[in-house]
Amino acid sequence: YVIAADNIKAHVQPTMYGVFFEDINMAGDGGVYAELVKNRSFEFKAPLMGWKELKQDGGDGSVLVLNRGVANPDNPRFIHVTSKTPKGYGLSNEGFRGMGVKKDDQYNFSVLAKLPWVAGISLQIELISAKGEVIGSATVSPSSKEWKKYTTNFNATETDPKASLRVLVNGKGSVDLDMISLFPKDTWKQREGGLRADLVQKLADMKPGFLRFPGGCIVEGRELDTRYQWKKTIGDVADRRMIINRWNTEFAHRPTPDYYQSFGLGFLEYFELAEDIGASPLPIINCGMACQFNTCELVPLDQLGPYVKDALDLIEFANGSVKTTWGKKRAQLGHPKPFNLKMMGVGNEQWGPQYIERYKIFEKAIHARYPQIKLVSSLGPNPDGEIFDDLNKSFRKLNADILDEHYYRAPQWFLQNVKRYDNYARKGPKIFAGEYAAQSVSAGSPDNKNNWQCAIAEAAFMTGLERNADVVSMASYAPLFAHVEGWQWTPDLIWFDNLKSYGTPNYYVQQLYSLNKGTDVVPLTLDNKAVTGQEGCFASAVLDSKGHQLIIKIVNTGKMEQKADLVVNGVKPGSKGTLTVLQSDDLNGVNSLDDPLNISPKKSKIEFMGNHVKLILKQYSFCVVRVSI
Ligand code: AHR
Repeated sequence: YVIAADNIKAHVQPTMYGVFFEDINMAGDGGVYAELVKNRSFEFKAPLMGWKELKQDGGDGSVLVLNRGVANPDNPRFIHVTSKTPKGYGLSNEGFRGMGVKKDDQYNFSVLAKLPWVAGISLQIELISAKGEVIGSATVSPSSKEWKKYTTNFNATETDPKASLRVLVNGKGSVDLDMISLFPKDTWKQREGGLRADLVQKLADMKPGFLRFPGGCIVEGRELDTRYQWKKTIGDVADRRMIINRWNTEFAHRPTPDYYQSFGLGFLEYFELAEDIGASPLPIINCGMACQFNTCELVPLDQLGPYVKDALDLIEFANGSVKTTWGKKRAQLGHPKPFNLKMMGVGNEQWGPQYIERYKIFEKAIHARYPQIKLVSSLGPNPDGEIFDDLNKSFRKLNADILDEHYYRAPQWFLQNVKRYDNYARKGPKIFAGEYAAQSVSAGSPDNKNNWQCAIAEAAFMTGLERNADVVSMASYAPLFAHVEGWQWTPDLIWFDNLKSYGTPNYYVQQLYSLNKGTDVVPLTLDNKAVTGQEGCFASAVLDSKGHQLIIKIVNTGKMEQKADLVVNGVKPGSKGTLTVLQSDDLNGVNSLDDPLNISPKKSKIEFMGNHVKLILKQYSFCVVRVSI
């Protein structure tokens, strides 16, 4: 292998390897959004879903679901609880497949309450273990006839992934309740009502170049009514209108009929998250089309105005000065500093003439006011089909900025497509490999596994993305997160339960690329040819001009060990470097909650002899060499 470290071929965009967040598989509610109470505002279709009436120790009473209707259209329902006994009556909440709590950690409870008349009523708040024991408790005493927020906190005395919450009425009488909420204090950056720290840490550990949000199909909605509308996701969480999640499903083998979007993780939180983890924000907006796999509802072209306005206002919300309407709103929400938005997606996985017609309207309006914003247009999930080719041609004619390709294919497809971008037009739109994942069984199969065969195929494919960094400006695996008891889609990059999480082998592939993305592509050849499958090996090399390092990636997808002699033009004789290896002898190997590091990177030191270094490329291995230059 010869690496010409002194011959720069292409620039690697700082955004090259990023993450794509969608609230699928309970990634948001029940996942990253750390709220432990399910259906806290009683807005699910069945208003008491997740809740159970409690009558213990002779307690008795009743609960009514009331609707304020137009008086509070974004959060109309609340409950009216009447206790007929001095104690023992109330409700319990089951959480999202239970509530994960940790011994000695603090939990913050809050509730909106109103008393029909000021009576001597208090609320007994109890955290209950799976065994039925009280493992934390506190009291709040509503005191007003007007809606008011009451808060309290307690420490959990046990660790339990399956706890639940009880809210019991002390005293005879009635009380109105809404927004019953429980959060760990220890969230990401200790933000009140914030995000689950261990899951965000997994993202931060990837140092992603961008964060795409909020989807995916949920941008589109099953019908236009349930599309994602960013303006309804900011401000007081009690006023963020909850809607059914596009991924809510009754399927018997993976039922999630309790899957809703509370939007506690809304657009301000997404922008903050991107900022926190050093990623460039990439919001996707609805283009006036509902999900092509559901109703395919369309907004007539002459009625697209409000949709386009949402897009323009979003740019102002992200970048406008505090003197603008939406920049001021951002400041009022606690973030006066702009978010430096540079790109935005128009539509997700849409195709056909209706999409082009709508895209053109968005493009014209956005670029008229914000010519510097790069627009991402979707090419759909069908990279080999006619629709894809036609769309691709249309967008090239329109001189589009970035084209978003999706591929959920077999591992063999990834190996066969390593050269996919070698012959792409070098001029014109850049490529965003926006959603990809090798499917061990088939696309959409619930039996897909995040196994090593898939991960190593993705590693090989990514050498092709990297070699073609002049064409490919961004790439992200999808989907990102999955709750082990609440998923709809496999495979997924990071799996979690209520307390723990693990990165799949695919996660470590993504991480190794992202942490070693470098700044410039340099040629790496074997017998004067790019390494695209010779003896099952695939390779690429980049310089990190800031750190003065050369980074070489070699993926051996074969079952035979290979001996490699790396000859680096430009390395100082005798240089010392590092070798990071991700490897398994077992193509079916996986990571799990119990064995999270089964397939994970191992680092060692290497030393060059002159300008050479000899490596053994084990079977099924992904090696990353770093050396100063
Ligand atoms: O990643 C899961 C889904 O796959 C996304 O929501 C959609 O864009 C694609 O069909």
